[in-house]
Amino acid sequence: MTIQPLHSSMLIFTTVREIRLWLDRHAGGRVVGFVPTMGALHEGHLSLIEASKRECGLTVCSIFVNPAQFNDPRDLALYPRTYEADLALLADSSTDLLFFPSVEEIYPHDFVSVEADLGGLDQVMEGLHRPGHFDGVVRVVHRLLDIIRPHKLFMGQKDFQQFTIIGRMIEQLKMPVRLVVCPIAREPGGLAMSSRNRRLSKPVRDQANLIFQILQYGKSKRPVLSPGQTMDACLEKLRQAGFDPEYFEIVDPETLQKIKQWPESGRLCVACTAVWLEGVRLIDNEFY
Ligand code: PAJ
Repeated sequence: MTIQPLHSSMLIFTTVREIRLWLDRHAGGRVVGFVPTMGALHEGHLSLIEASKRECGLTVCSIFVNPAQFNDPRDLALYPRTYEADLALLADSSTDLLFFPSVEEIYPHDFVSVEADLGGLDQVMEGLHRPGHFDGVVRVVHRLLDIIRPHKLFMGQKDFQQFTIIGRMIEQLKMPVRLVVCPIAREPGGLAMSSRNRRLSKPVRDQANLIFQILQYGKSKRPVLSPGQTMDACLEKLRQAGFDPEYFEIVDPETLQKIKQWPESGRLCVACTAVWLEGVRLIDNEFY
């Protein structure tokens, strides 16, 4: 079904057949940029759309809350769904096409999932704490790329492990798409923007800003403390600040393996963390 929202030239598609038909007929020689999302859009998502608008002649955004990547059914049930507000934001952002498919459309009964060798990238951090999560992410992003066939895929640094894994999948399967990674959009207090932030109560939002401050604190300890000591110190600070941390790791940005020594100057490493606050799981990262 193609729906035309009021006062906007954005086209909305809910079926694979129709969006594919439109792209085949009308994309012409334009560079197609694609921004996959799960909705509940915020400025972080919009920054990806802006990047696509700058670099591409046609920008496609998708909203699909992918059940396959939720290892926790409660998280799936509580995932915010704000379709009307999303539509208004997308129309304002001059997104050209919105793909808003059903679960059946993405995973038909004869669907065969892709297999890619992720080289262990999915065995650490988020992968350890959210079993099956990255299988679900790889499955849906591969499927969406197969449908949209964009030239450029825009993803956020906010989900560091996610874009690293998708980059690996693209490379492994030699997919003809370039991954563009965009910086983390933050609230004025430093909290990384996330759809899940809506589930935090107002007073606790200030507390959540401390995640970013603790990431900065860890950075300031290089090279006085070793990476291991920095990780321990940051975990302790997170606990003192009232978080329930799942991990705080300083890793090589390519292998995602914990580093034992700081890299030589000029080479970066990245600190990644996941914490619980008020029953909400928050992640963030920062280059060191
Ligand atoms: P979602 O959490 O909706 O995020 C969609 C995209 O927006 C991802 O690439 C994510 O990294 C990026 N993003 C989220 N918060 C951001 C921020 N504060 N600054 C910059 N970019 C940000 O990530 C997913 O959905 C899903 O796993 C998906 C890739 C769509 C597959 O289902």
